[in-house]
Amino acid sequence: MRVLVVNGPNLNLLGVRRPEVYGTATLAELEERCRAWGAALGIEVETFQSNHEGAIIDRLHDALGRCDGVVLNPGALTHYSYALHDAVEAIALPVVEVHLSDIHAREEWRSRSVVSPACAASISGHGPDGYREALEWLAGRKDQVPPR
Ligand code: DQA
Repeated sequence: MRVLVVNGPNLNLLGVRRPEVYGTATLAELEERCRAWGAALGIEVETFQSNHEGAIIDRLHDALGRCDGVVLNPGALTHYSYALHDAVEAIALPVVEVHLSDIHAREEWRSRSVVSPACAASISGHGPDGYREALEWLAGRKDQVPPR
C-alpha cells in the first residue's frame, strides 16, 4: 500500500510557526514520523509540501493510479479552495483531511472546511498523532476515525 502525505501552505514552517498552536516538531520530523508509522502498518509513505495551490492539485492528480490513499493537511486552503475540493473529488481515492490544531475551536472562519465534503474522513486537533490515525484508518486498522 502506498499513501501520499500532503502538507499545504505555511506548513514548511512547522516548529517555528506558532508552536503553541502547531507544536514544536518540524515538517521534516513530522514527515519522518509518518514514514515510520507507515512502515509499521505496511504502508509506503511519500511526502509532499507546497505553498502553491496548483502544485498541490498537480500532485494529487499524480497520485491517481499510483497511490492507494492520501493524507491531506491543506493549511488555509482548507477554508476557501474549491479547486482543492474538486481535485480530491476527481481523484476518487480515499483522502483523509488532517489538521494539527482543532479548526472547530479557533477563529470562526477556520471552522468551515470546503474540502471536507470530498474527503473520506477528517481529523482535527490531535497534533501529529492525527497523521498516524489517518494512516491507521487508511490501512483499515480502524473502523472509524476519532470524533472531530
Ligand atoms: C491547519 C489549520 C489551518 O486553519 C491553518 O491555516 C493551517 C494549519 C492545521 O494543521 O491546524 O495552516 O491546517
